[in-house]
Amino acid sequence: MSILEGPVSDQIDSTTAQPARRYNYWLGGKDNFAVDRASGDEILRTFPTARLAALENRRFLQRATRFLAAEAGIRQFLDIGTGLPTADNTHEVAQRIAPETRVVYVDNDPMVMAHARALLTSTPQGRTTYLEADLRSPGAILAQPQLRETLDLREPVALMLVAVLHFVAGYGAGAPIVRTLMDALPSGSFLVVTNATKDPLPARMAADYDAALAAGTTNIWPRDRAEFTDLFAGLELIEPGVTPVSEWRAQDEPEPRPDPAHIAMYGGVGRKP
Ligand SMILES: C[S@@+](CC[C@H](N)C(=O)[O-])C[C@H]1O[C@@H](n2cnc3c(N)ncnc32)[C@H](O)[C@@H]1O
Repeated sequence: MSILEGPVSDQIDSTTAQPARRYNYWLGGKDNFAVDRASGDEILRTFPTARLAALENRRFLQRATRFLAAEAGIRQFLDIGTGLPTADNTHEVAQRIAPETRVVYVDNDPMVMAHARALLTSTPQGRTTYLEADLRSPGAILAQPQLRETLDLREPVALMLVAVLHFVAGYGAGAPIVRTLMDALPSGSFLVVTNATKDPLPARMAADYDAALAAGTTNIWPRDRAEFTDLFAGLELIEPGVTPVSEWRAQDEPEPRPDPAHIAMYGGVGRKP
């Protein structure tokens, strides 16, 4: 199940902030260290609504999963950048609608591996698997035998890249990874992506974001609408297209919806024709 050598606890680095634990801190979880809280607080100084953005991203993930399971008939998910288990993980949302759903979770953080038991609570009819692997090596993810033992790649799969692609820095760096993964999936498969963006930010905050990237106090790489939309090249964008995560099919969410500048994250879902 793991490509780790030695006990998982030996691999956990409590001296460097990690995205999964920082996100867990913003979501109010307890699975984080002082270094993650300090990094989370540092980002809150330039982007004070980061906690709300994390919550809205999580709600998008759940709405997109419900759409895929209930409306699109998807029964297989490849969820890369899983994060630490929290309430309503992908398999729980999907299996409530279709208990036979199969989910492969992938993350590169050993801390997620240490908590993976909570991700492996499948219904008896379905199945969940956890792999430790890196999104930046999509070919290696596809080559893992456990992936094909759990997912039938002749049938549609939803590829979930929710709040993970922005840890792959560089303009245009996301598209080839998405392409490699989607090329391995058949017609009728879906792509779900969210990514931080500076687009709705006031000029002063956008400049602070650039300064934080340059100083290394954030490693969350923002993508503008054009670059984000390009991730869906060759796919049919599902209505309402590329939107702030807080506005995607959010008609049943409490009003008023947050100001997009307080979220600064795009979301979208596309279908492979
Ligand atoms: C912000 S969390 C998102 C969790 C979940 N997808 C969600 O949206 O609620 C990002 C996750 O991506 C993982 N991650 C970051 N870079 C990664 C990479 N190169 N390969 C695999 N996982 C990665 C982190 O360890 C973390 O668990």
